[in-house]
Amino acid sequence: MVSPLVAAARLQTRANAFRLASRSSRFYSTKPQSLKERLAELIPKEKENVKAIRTEYGAKALGQVTVDQLYGGMRGLPALIWDGSVLDANEGIRFRGKTIPECQDLLPKADGGAEPLPEALFWLLVTGEVPTAEQTKAISAEWAARAELPKFVEELIDRCPPTLHPMSQFSVAVTALNHDSAFAKAYQNGIPKAEYWGPIYEDCMDLIAKLPAIAGRIYRNVYGDGKLPAIDATKDYAWNLSHLLGFSDKEAFVELMRLYIVIHSDHEGGNVSAHTGKLVGSALSDPFLSYAAALDGLAGPLHGLANQEVLLWVMKMRSKVGENPSDQDIKDYIWSTLKSGQVVPGYGHAVLRKTDPRYMAQRAFALKHLPEDPLFKLVGQIYNIAPGILLEAGKAKNPWPNVDAHSGILLTYYGLDQMQFYTVLFGVSRAFGVAAQLIWDRALGAPLERPKSYSSEAIKKMFVGK
Ligand SMILES: CC(C)(COP(=O)(O)OP(=O)(O)OC[C@H]1O[C@@H](n2cnc3c(N)ncnc32)[C@H](O)[C@@H]1OP(=O)(O)O)[C@@H](O)C(=O)NCCC(=O)NCCS
Repeated sequence: MVSPLVAAARLQTRANAFRLASRSSRFYSTKPQSLKERLAELIPKEKENVKAIRTEYGAKALGQVTVDQLYGGMRGLPALIWDGSVLDANEGIRFRGKTIPECQDLLPKADGGAEPLPEALFWLLVTGEVPTAEQTKAISAEWAARAELPKFVEELIDRCPPTLHPMSQFSVAVTALNHDSAFAKAYQNGIPKAEYWGPIYEDCMDLIAKLPAIAGRIYRNVYGDGKLPAIDATKDYAWNLSHLLGFSDKEAFVELMRLYIVIHSDHEGGNVSAHTGKLVGSALSDPFLSYAAALDGLAGPLHGLANQEVLLWVMKMRSKVGENPSDQDIKDYIWSTLKSGQVVPGYGHAVLRKTDPRYMAQRAFALKHLPEDPLFKLVGQIYNIAPGILLEAGKAKNPWPNVDAHSGILLTYYGLDQMQFYTVLFGVSRAFGVAAQLIWDRALGAPLERPKSYSSEAIKKMFVGK
């Protein structure tokens, strides 16, 4: 049964395909419109749209800022524009208005595949439109053509000691890509502000295209013999990522990567990695510098590193309670985690107040591809028990699992069991959302971010005796 929303979106996709088809036939060409060409059409309209919003609503207040919010990590403070996705506390993420199941239904897939292609998701994040299969294929080809790393970046990765955390290696390599930034060069040459988005777009496409080569190189250096296969220009992004990691012979793993990248791509603007990327970009640091900073934030255990922490925690649990634990064994283990002052990794969220739909999408994947896997069963058992305990403990505002509670066991099932590497895959994915916003920020002339800070002394002075 197709929801009215999905039906409407399908109609829009068909209209989009028809519009593109008639345009190309007008010009007697079969080449589909490129993402950059579509962007060039959308930017003037969006500038007008933003101008109208600011003229009409610019003086409206979005809410009140409390002192608690300043001390409380700015939870709920309305402070950013982020167009790619919006997170609802109960419903979870929507990418340009579309839920994860809608994206799974609407976005083009690989031949024979069932999961949406990340290329199509990127088009959606940037334009708000569902691309045609042809347009999606054109992005796959473009990214494959841009995938090669500069020699010195390869050498830089090769010189990292294998003991350096894969996320640190990742950040070093992405920072170094700034050597060839089109934007940094254009800025030095005095490019006018209205044209910033062009070289920013080029850098963002290069950034995303080169991430599999970086991730693959780190993986093979740290866990293998350092030898990498070549990119296959006829294949899609997730296939090539899987290939560089050494897993492209497992079609289900490639499908997992397609789903994985889509669901990890964006989670509105306030999370640490997304906000960091936007903030650093606002200083006109190029997309490589901006995204390297975002990766450093993603590497924190309360953010992206949680996927590594979850698997570590589940493995420790398994070594303590054995292969077939009772519910009571699991309860005791969770309580011992809490009583030792640690968090239950993979549970809770700063915004979400229900089970993360990204968790559910991975659970559905596991039910389809690995229903009998003992680790999947254990994660399912924990899902039935942990929320009750977190509620009873009474601290966490959200006792439900987030995206990180599930990803590690899927990767482990296919043999990618090096947990320290997991956040790198998150980092490949999150570039999609950050890059889409960086392009729009520069296209719309977003200014340098500079919120106001106060000292505790100043806060007291403001309110004492009032
Ligand atoms: C995600 C997370 C950082 C959100 O933090 P937050 O917005 O401050 O969460 P809350 O407002 O619910 O926190 C209130 C209290 O509950 C605790 N809490 C939240 N989630 C918890 C969890 N999974 N296990 C134990 N305690 C938790 C917090 O540590 C905090 O305790 P404190 O008052 O002693 O500092 C937090 O839930 C967490 O640490 N989860 C585990 C790590 C994780 O899965 N991260 C990935 C997120 S996608």
